Amino acid sequence: MPVTTCVFDAYGTLFDVAAAARQAAGEPGREAFAAHWVKVASDWRLKQLQYTWLRAVVGAHTDFWEVTQNGLDWALEASGLTDPDLRERLLALYWELSAYPEVPAMLSQLKAQGFQTAILSNGSPAMLEGAVRSAGVGDVLDDVLSVESVGIFKPDARVYDLVGARFGCTKEEVLFVSSNGWDAGCATGYGFHTVWVNRGGEPVDRLPWVPAHTLSDLTTIPELAQSL
Ligand code: LAC
Repeated sequence: MPVTTCVFDAYGTLFDVAAAARQAAGEPGREAFAAHWVKVASDWRLKQLQYTWLRAVVGAHTDFWEVTQNGLDWALEASGLTDPDLRERLLALYWELSAYPEVPAMLSQLKAQGFQTAILSNGSPAMLEGAVRSAGVGDVLDDVLSVESVGIFKPDARVYDLVGARFGCTKEEVLFVSSNGWDAGCATGYGFHTVWVNRGGEPVDRLPWVPAHTLSDLTTIPELAQSL
């Protein structure tokens, strides 16, 4: 059964999650932060994700904006940074993350080829709306699906179920694309075709399932979707 629907993770896949810290580090007066931004960005992302998994396991859901703030607070404290203005700036920048450069053309090409396109993300609807608007990709997405409609984070199967419920397609008709190895692996276990976008050349996650395809960026997604 050919693929009809291409679904993308948001943070780290379409939108560059390190962009907020990178941009703040380059701003005047932030020299102290410039020495730490790489570690802060990495700790921020890792803690943000850990908190989603832990909250899902214990049934204590809150929205992604809350865990994003919690993760940043941990990361800033771990680097000895206490400036409240820096915290506010980093959080503000998270609402307007840049998309990776190939994203608009890739999504346009998928639409021109007749695929349905969507985001499926842990992000809250308001955060995702901000990111989609600032990246200017609203016109080439059929929908933006948020975990908030099921109240649990990825990789719970109820999140992946949102795709079939919205588009009326089978799992075999879906190509799911994520830069998170665990997300792509778990989506393979769920039954989607999967791509792991491994920009950093990371080792594969040791989980019961592995991504079906691995790419270094999103450029060839339309070609791959057509071939499945
Ligand atoms: C998301 C996170 C996992 O967008 O990147 O769902």
